[in-house]
Amino acid sequence: MAKPILVANWKNHPNSLSEAQKLLKEMSKKRELYKKVALFIAPPQPYLESTLLRTRNFAKLASQNFFSPEILKSFGVRLAIIGHSDYRALGESSEIVSQKIKLALRASIVPLVCIGESVRDVDGEHFEFLREELKSSLSGLKPLEAGKIAIAYEPIWTIGKRAKDALSAPELAESVIFIKKVLTQLFNRAVAEKIPILYGGSVEPANAGELMVGTGVRGFLVGHASLSAKSFETIAKSLLGK
Ligand code: PGA
Repeated sequence: MAKPILVANWKNHPNSLSEAQKLLKEMSKKRELYKKVALFIAPPQPYLESTLLRTRNFAKLASQNFFSPEILKSFGVRLAIIGHSDYRALGESSEIVSQKIKLALRASIVPLVCIGESVRDVDGEHFEFLREELKSSLSGLKPLEAGKIAIAYEPIWTIGKRAKDALSAPELAESVIFIKKVLTQLFNRAVAEKIPILYGGSVEPANAGELMVGTGVRGFLVGHASLSAKSFETIAKSLLGK
C-alpha cells in the first residue's frame, strides 16, 4: 500500500527565514512520524534552499507553482502545485495549466493539479464545472502521462476557513467518486485508479481524521494548518489513522 501523501502549502509564510527555520526544526523532531507519509513542503521560493537542507531525511521539496524546470530541478523540487486557485484567480487559464503539467512531467516533477468549484450548489451544477476544469486542465495528456500526475481537489469556497466550514466527509466522498468517473472517461479505469486524489481546503486537526475515512482521498494539501508544527503533526497522525 502506497504511503498517504501530505503536502504543506506555506504560501507567503512564515514571515521570515528564521521563523521558517524554527518551524522546520520543530517538524524535524517528528521525523520518524513524517517518514511514514510521503511529505512534501512547498515553501515561499526564497526559502527553497533552506527547506531542502533542513528536511533531507524526512520530506521532499515542492514548489507552489511551476516555472523554470531547470531551476526547480537544481533545487531538488520533486512536486509542483499547478493550477492552484490563487494563481487561477490571477489569470492562469486551464490552457496554461495543461502546458505546465506537460513541462513538469518532462522534468520528472510530479504535477499536483488543483481543481475545485467556487460554489457548491444543491442542484449539483458544480459537478459540470469540475468536469470541464478537469477536461481542459488535462487536455492533451496521454494515459501513460496522466498516470504520473496527482490531483488536489480544493473547492475554492473551503480555502482559508476553519474546519467547521470545510467540506463534510460525505460531500468529499461524492466529489471523489465524480472525479474518478471523469478521469475514467478521459483516460481509462486503470489510470483513474492510479491517480492519487488529495483534498485541500481548511484541513485542520479537527477534521483531518473524518476526511480520511471512506472518502477515497489519498492525502491532504494543507495551507494554514501546516504553519503550526503541532497542528501539522496531528494531521499527519490522522492520515495514518492514529
Ligand atoms: P487552507 O489552504 O488549508 O488554508 O484552506 C489550502 C490551500 O489553499 O492550498
